[in-house]
Amino acid sequence: MKRVVNQSISIRRRLLLQLLFVAILLSGLLYLSVRTVADSAVERTQDSILGAATIAIAEELRGGEEGVAVDIPYTAFSMLGSIGQDRVFYRITIGDETVTGYDELALPTEPLNGLTPLFYDDAYRGLLVRAAAVERSVLVNGKALPVRVIVAQTRTSQQTIVASLAERAALLGIGFFVIAVGLSLLTARLVVKPVSSLVEAVGRRGPQDLRPVQRPVPRELVPLVTALNGFMSRLSVALSRTETFIAEAAHHIRTPLATLRAQAEIALRQTENEEARQTIRSMIRSVDTSARSAGQMLEHAAVVFRSDQRSDEQIDLSLLVEDITESYEPSAEMKGVRLVCLPHAHDITVDADRILLEAALRNLIDNAIKYTPKDGLVEVSVISAEGFARLEVKDSGRGLFGAQAAQLTGRFQRGANVEDVVGSGLGLTIVKEVARSLNGRFEIVEREEGGTCAALYVPLRSR
Ligand SMILES: Nc1ncnc2c1ncn2[C@@H]1O[C@H](COP(=O)(O)OP(=O)(O)OP(=O)(O)O)[C@@H](O)[C@H]1O
Ligand SMILES: [Mg+2]
Repeated sequence: MKRVVNQSISIRRRLLLQLLFVAILLSGLLYLSVRTVADSAVERTQDSILGAATIAIAEELRGGEEGVAVDIPYTAFSMLGSIGQDRVFYRITIGDETVTGYDELALPTEPLNGLTPLFYDDAYRGLLVRAAAVERSVLVNGKALPVRVIVAQTRTSQQTIVASLAERAALLGIGFFVIAVGLSLLTARLVVKPVSSLVEAVGRRGPQDLRPVQRPVPRELVPLVTALNGFMSRLSVALSRTETFIAEAAHHIRTPLATLRAQAEIALRQTENEEARQTIRSMIRSVDTSARSAGQMLEHAAVVFRSDQRSDEQIDLSLLVEDITESYEPSAEMKGVRLVCLPHAHDITVDADRILLEAALRNLIDNAIKYTPKDGLVEVSVISAEGFARLEVKDSGRGLFGAQAAQLTGRFQRGANVEDVVGSGLGLTIVKEVARSLNGRFEIVEREEGGTCAALYVPLRSR
């Protein structure tokens, strides 16, 4: 069947993509926040050690008659040394004048607030350093002088700690992402599960199963299932009305036509007038044509209807062929045609709709008898060939006059060979429809020795 549903990206994939996007976002945020927190924690720790060392030096400043004396405490440097292999520089100034230490070390640009350290970044001799500065008044010669103590330290070990923390944050982010991917897959599967099981349950049904869907479904799917159930119940009503209509129409058309034909036959027998007899004969012919057309149209409608509502069963084709052939023996006899069912194997079985198969076979035998003259021969047989059962009806009739199957199987198409034979041109349309519905095929060819050979192929029952 042609696919008429426009397909877009699956719910599962859509959900998965969205969850993955969220997972990537959250993993990134996690990485950034862990890094930010770790960086500032490392910086604060180092600053507090640097600040403590600077204060410790400042507290050792002593005034006197001649100037400022400082006894740099060993503990100040051992504190800083505990952080790592960083280099430490210091500078003590009164105003802008260096008392001791490295006088290239930059002074703080902001005013200092006593022993509360001011921290700033600087570059000293091409090295990136972190500096802390405090200020203290020292009495020199009875005069209070502001003395500034600056201690700076390179940042190598801080950078090493930050790099190792960054690595851990990245690992944490990746770990989080992997777990999130696993959970996303699980979630996507769980969310789609009710939809998949509904689809599976509906898909498992045969085409004629129009019962409402009863299984519990999530609340979001209730409108869809309600609409589906409503549609199926309306379809079921419409189908049963169609079936009734076909059956009733067949009855109501055939019966009056049969009565009309019988009355015309009686009138023909009772009339001596040749002109009136001629008129009645053409009337009988018209009735035959109409009855044939009505019958074939209804049979075609029934076959089309049945094609969508197939009710397959295991059918032994040899028995079916024998039965149908037998039912045509009276009409063959009336026409003086010999109708035979050729011997065949008894295990050719197919899974098919019996009504469809019978309709096809009846039309093939009907044609063979119709288009074969008196004393002709019609042979019906069934064989199995390459996975298919081949139902064959051969006749010794007039042949097809070169017509091809494609022309003859069209609706209301009759061949140039029909002459006075009554027909509507729907018989082979029915056969073709049956072949299509049963996943088989139909062939009709002219026989070399004269006559026609029509064959319907139906897939054999898979064992
Ligand atoms: N066995 C046959 N021998 C010769 N011609 C055939 C044979 N079977 C079919 N045909 C040709 O194919 C045409 C189509 O056949 P089809 O059965 O569809 O229509 P029909 O027999 O004319 O009418 P009806 O619908 O009443 O059967 C026929 O009109 C005839 O020309
Ligand atoms: Mg026919």
